Amino acid sequence: MSREFTLPKWYDLHTHFRQENQMQAYIAAHKAMGCAGALAMPNTQPPVAVVFEKDEGASGYWSIERYMRDLNVAGAREFEVLIVPLYLTKETTPDMILKGAGSGVLKACKAYPPHGTTGAEFGAPLMTHIDNGVLKAMEEAGVVLCVHGEEHGLSPTAYFDRHSNAEEVFYKERMGRVRDAYPDLKIVCEHVTTKVAVDFVKESGEMVAATVTPQHLIYTIGDLIQGLKYHLFCLPVVKFEEDREALRGAVTASGNRKFFAGTDSAPHTMKATECGCAAGCFTGGVAPQLYAHGFEMAGVDMGSVAGQAVFQAFLCDNGARFYGLEPSSETFVLVKEPSRVDPVNTPQGSVVPLPLGVNEPELGWSIKL
Ligand code: NCD
Ligand code: ZN
Repeated sequence: MSREFTLPKWYDLHTHFRQENQMQAYIAAHKAMGCAGALAMPNTQPPVAVVFEKDEGASGYWSIERYMRDLNVAGAREFEVLIVPLYLTKETTPDMILKGAGSGVLKACKAYPPHGTTGAEFGAPLMTHIDNGVLKAMEEAGVVLCVHGEEHGLSPTAYFDRHSNAEEVFYKERMGRVRDAYPDLKIVCEHVTTKVAVDFVKESGEMVAATVTPQHLIYTIGDLIQGLKYHLFCLPVVKFEEDREALRGAVTASGNRKFFAGTDSAPHTMKATECGCAAGCFTGGVAPQLYAHGFEMAGVDMGSVAGQAVFQAFLCDNGARFYGLEPSSETFVLVKEPSRVDPVNTPQGSVVPLPLGVNEPELGWSIKL
């Protein structure tokens, strides 16, 4: 018997649409999964690290204005919401923040750990943005800080070991100080993967929230290394059962208002290379289906009113509220009916959505628009 339920269209508050002739396919895949908007991350080449087009020239960076225009041309124009955060570099200034926010173009900034993930080579240590007044300006102007929470430059054993990892170090040693120094700064802890990060978000006040990806709800490190399923390789890397339990508990708790959908869908047409593997899982087209699967794995009865309510809070409501966005008035339908997953083609090559490349190319859920 098929079971279905209707949800408001949702905003993916952490995704990567890339650039040039790849964007169209990724934006289309998002629309096909009931997305009415997105926060498109700025780790393009070059990164989106100035606000206004007039400032692009000598800077060598792209502007939010230009990237938004490119995205709109590639199909994002039909979205109800499009946010492009400013990529924080060592050249970002408080003046850029205040002017950008004043104009309405700048809504959020993204902090990357230098060299810590795909396209993070222009990132600056969080300390830089404290010392130069950028975080203070963001707090004053109501600009959201999106944080890739992993400590950079660690030794291999500190980076990932049985007892600790880069994300835990970051949340234990850095984020508390930032949160306490800027109590009115809105912070999104992006793609949290550990119990340490989940606990940090829970024990912080209402200015601190988090995105959770489908892969971190469904998989653990064993799924990745048993057969080295590199399509599941993203950063922060999938962690342990105890961490997955904490994530599942957080997103499925009745009354959850802090944890919301941000897929971190990060397509790579070339995943495995001679010198390693590009970090990023692609979940365009399939994220609500995967999230629904994750909720079921967490024990939620998706046929019940209560189950559907916690799912809607996570997918549709919490993120919109945190960013101060109007919820979409359009709807889509999630149906408990198997569907097949296929690669998505772009002029640069094809990309493989989860769970393809990890296990069966089949999902337990389908989408009707
Ligand atoms: C992202 C990408 O490919 O752009 N990769 C990833 O593993 N998540 C960058 C990021 O968000 O870390
Ligand atoms: Zn990302």
